[in-house]
Amino acid sequence: MADEKKQRWLEGTYAKAVKKGPERRPRFETSSGIREEPVYGAADVRPGLDERLGLPGEYPFTRGVQPTMYRGRFWTMRQYAGFGTAEESNKRYRYLLESGQTGLSVAFDLPTQMGRDSDHPRARGEVGKVGVAIDSIRDMEVLFDRIPLGEVSTSMTINATAGMLLAMYQAVGEKQGAAPAVLQGTIQNDILKEYAARGTYIYPPEPSLRIITDIFAYTAKVMPRWNPISISGYHIREAGSTAVQEVAFTLADGIQYVDAAVKAGLDVDAFAGRLSFFFNAHNDLLEEVAKFRAARRLWARIMKERFKAKDPRSMMLRFHTQTAGSMLTAQQPDNNIVRVTLQALAAVLGGTQSLHTNSRDEALGLPTEDSVRIALRTQQIIANESGVADVIDPLGGSWAIEAMTDEIEGRAQEYIRKIDELGGMVHAISKGYVQREIQEAAYAWQRQVEAKDQVVVGVNAFRSDDPPVPVMKVDPALEAQQVERLKALRAARSASAARGALDAVRAGARGTDNLMPLILAAVKAECTLGEISDALREVYGEYRETVVL
Ligand code: 3HC
Repeated sequence: MADEKKQRWLEGTYAKAVKKGPERRPRFETSSGIREEPVYGAADVRPGLDERLGLPGEYPFTRGVQPTMYRGRFWTMRQYAGFGTAEESNKRYRYLLESGQTGLSVAFDLPTQMGRDSDHPRARGEVGKVGVAIDSIRDMEVLFDRIPLGEVSTSMTINATAGMLLAMYQAVGEKQGAAPAVLQGTIQNDILKEYAARGTYIYPPEPSLRIITDIFAYTAKVMPRWNPISISGYHIREAGSTAVQEVAFTLADGIQYVDAAVKAGLDVDAFAGRLSFFFNAHNDLLEEVAKFRAARRLWARIMKERFKAKDPRSMMLRFHTQTAGSMLTAQQPDNNIVRVTLQALAAVLGGTQSLHTNSRDEALGLPTEDSVRIALRTQQIIANESGVADVIDPLGGSWAIEAMTDEIEGRAQEYIRKIDELGGMVHAISKGYVQREIQEAAYAWQRQVEAKDQVVVGVNAFRSDDPPVPVMKVDPALEAQQVERLKALRAARSASAARGALDAVRAGARGTDNLMPLILAAVKAECTLGEISDALREVYGEYRETVVL
């Protein structure tokens, strides 16, 4: 929508300039295919902006969830980390805390995420590889050795086995003298995106949603400062979605969880204030800032209008951001420091509550200590030296940003309407609709890169031979160590107590009572993660993926 003045400029000054020197590409658009005007003016933003915008800390929270935002407190600098055994990871966490990070974020290895003990045949070669190996409460105690759980907030990227790891965290907190009520942190516990994009699922949707809503009810009562879910768009974007799809599919997952919890008898305001989200910070800075603002406003409206939430906290979309791992290049790895800086800046300008900045070498392996320090320093420089944290929502009111915020919100709403027609995200995923949309977007992006319509510096342009960089390796001998540790635990524990606790978990899975107290008792009886997961497998079976052709 252009006003007369702009129209005259377009047909006069701009057209003349383009005649002399054509635009460098046929069409300018964002990753979501939103057409970009050469310049934006008031007429490009539909009327009623004031009401849509609101003010920081007030509904619809477009400008931020806290009244003072970063003038009151910087976002949490929370580096995702974990590898090898609990000792190795504990060392890295203490290094990061000493380097100034303000929150913990645990990466678990695949066996832990898939509910397999380190000595399971399917764990071979994966123990401690992409995250830390946690088999029991003893490993968890080592993981947080000399880290006071009553004073830090810890995120755990764990989904199908989230209940077991939450129980271990609570048990270790109690051993340290920190009551469950003071423990702060988050479990990802977002199984729907695992079916659609990431893959670390175990049980079918129905029992998985039961476990998730049991955790909602449990933390609301026992661990009121804990965030029982991190509804994730990060992996949806990493799988190749557009920014609009990232918002739409993430909020549609959120709707499914809130629906399930309300159907399980929970009052929406009893748990919704502790729902949290997790988004990607991608390359297109303007679109990313608009994406975060659109997501906040859309979620506020969904909670107020669709779920009739009364408590403003139920309408606040609080989120963590990780810079886009898929945009890191193995070529010219130092370029990644620049990419991550821009992506982190987008997250801050977009009002994130917590942030992980990728390390320059993460396209090659787990980050070295040097690289992770630069990644953390990137956040500290943005926070303390750039000035962008001193003004709340500084890009708010920019015609380009407001126009994009509106457009992203509108298109995401369109997707949500479509998903509603399909019966919600569980059905949309089982029909392969979500996966197909993501695959098509991923394919379109790849074709743009291969056709060089999308420049990737160092990869399809400005290439050079790179000197080798140090790449971190996890010592494969750690696997044997972990297996030995498991054997010792099984030999030392009371076999009857462990057996009894696992029987209770099985019986609980068949019943309707909250599973968490039973999982906690099993963890305290030194049952292993794999044993507890298997007890639930016996009752629920395993999910079979929908193959999307
Ligand atoms: N004024 C007053 N109070 C303020 C404030 C301000 N300006 N800013 C923050 N606060 C308060 C908050 O209200 C909060 O207090 P409360 O708990 O009593 O409400 C406290 O200070 C902490 O602030 P936040 O809750 O905003 O920040 P946190 O960092 O504690 O929590 C979160 C952020 C998004 C809500 C939380 O869910 C979180 O930390 N999520 C992290 C998730 C994460 O790290 N995920 C990593 C996944 S890695 C992955 O999956 C990728 C892999 O697969 C490759």
